[in-house]
Amino acid sequence: MKINYNEKIPNNVDLSSDRRLQRALERWQPEFLNWWDELGPENSMELEVYLRTAISVEKEGWAHFDYVKMPDYRWGIFLTPSDSDSKINFGIHKGQPVWQEVPGEYRSELRRLIVTQGDTEPASVEQQRYLGNTCPSLYDLRNLFQVNVEEGRHLWAMVYLLQAYFGRDGREEAEAMLERHSGDPDKPRILEAFNEETPDWLSFFMFTYFTDRDGKFQLGSLAESGFDPLARSCRFMLTEEAHHMFVGETGVGRVVQRACDLMNDYNTDDIRQYGGIDLPTIQKYLNFHFSVSTDLFGQELSTNAATYYNTGIKGRFGETKIDDDHLLHDSNYSILELCGDKIVSTDVPALNAVNERLRDDYIVDCDLGVRRWNKIIETAGIDFRLKLPHRAFHRGIGQFSEIQTDLEGKIISQAEWDQRQQDWLPTQEDQAFVQSLMQQVLEPGKIAGWIAPPKGKINRQDFEFEFVRFN
Ligand SMILES: [Fe+2]
Ligand SMILES: [Fe+2]
Repeated sequence: MKINYNEKIPNNVDLSSDRRLQRALERWQPEFLNWWDELGPENSMELEVYLRTAISVEKEGWAHFDYVKMPDYRWGIFLTPSDSDSKINFGIHKGQPVWQEVPGEYRSELRRLIVTQGDTEPASVEQQRYLGNTCPSLYDLRNLFQVNVEEGRHLWAMVYLLQAYFGRDGREEAEAMLERHSGDPDKPRILEAFNEETPDWLSFFMFTYFTDRDGKFQLGSLAESGFDPLARSCRFMLTEEAHHMFVGETGVGRVVQRACDLMNDYNTDDIRQYGGIDLPTIQKYLNFHFSVSTDLFGQELSTNAATYYNTGIKGRFGETKIDDDHLLHDSNYSILELCGDKIVSTDVPALNAVNERLRDDYIVDCDLGVRRWNKIIETAGIDFRLKLPHRAFHRGIGQFSEIQTDLEGKIISQAEWDQRQQDWLPTQEDQAFVQSLMQQVLEPGKIAGWIAPPKGKINRQDFEFEFVRFN
């Protein structure tokens, strides 16, 4: 299971024993590099970046840190080792051995799931393309690039599955991954949140906190799949995803910290004049990114999701830790539903509510970080708390997309929404202000004025370390 770095495409799947597949992937590799060149991080080709690279897929010590030029990053195919007698843990095939090949009857569903997941990976790299030009510090620049190369690797993970298991269709899907682009009017990315811009670093931190966390929950449920190669790919991707969410949580936390420091130093809430991002503006960005990411879980009641679950191709988050029959044929689940002009709690068949259950798990997880941000505010002695908006707020998908609500989920008229949304979502003026703070800082140990330096280290290197070298 050691990763073989002597091959053109590093892998731990014994790629050289399958010449056809190897050739197909080697044909795709230059197209990927062209895409990276055109739509990956701008002005980054010559930089030497202190990056971690996977050296082993074992739990301990899989990461190796060194300076790398990003186009030379060793993107490859890494799967968590297989457990030879793994069984399917849910659905009608529960108890049967996991599949090493795609079952013919589930082929199109599996392909759709892999394509949808795969499409998000290069999308976020495209969304973040210009952020390097305004990085608040070298430490942050390095973190951005680490996230970008790993999203690139996640694309490799999904493209490997398509090419290895879906024949000609899979090869075509692999091409299409590089043809759709974030925000492209003709060929957009599949999911809407991945067509939004990430125009500034506050948005980037919110994105990696809220939207990468959707990735955690999607990957977590695909990691339960009866299709073993998919499950094992996703398990390894999850270890990388954890860092992305860390970047988001600590990033937002540092913006909050800086806001509090400025409020206390100058004894005022009005810190924009001192170059800080005020807490109400942070709350508005939070509202936006949370609501857009909440949409990614789809419809509250979904027959597709029920089919995915029933057939064993996509489970629930932490499936094996849930104490029930893992069939869900006669159980109920409680969801929030729109009933006339009210939002009420109602019991529905659990199988149809698999999406909503995943959204519930996601919201609980989102709230943990909000509490840690509030600890920072509390410690600073400031009377303000950040809060997740109600799940019905500002939705574009699902039944709540038909209504407007305030942050607490109280249904309001369109007229009231039009009047009040500027208090809840970033206005053009807010965005222009945040944008005005985005000035590139490249000197080791220096940092922009709107964000506090990090408390933690990267691979035992202090904030002062030269995380990126310019030649
Ligand atoms: Fe990813
Ligand atoms: Fe990610």
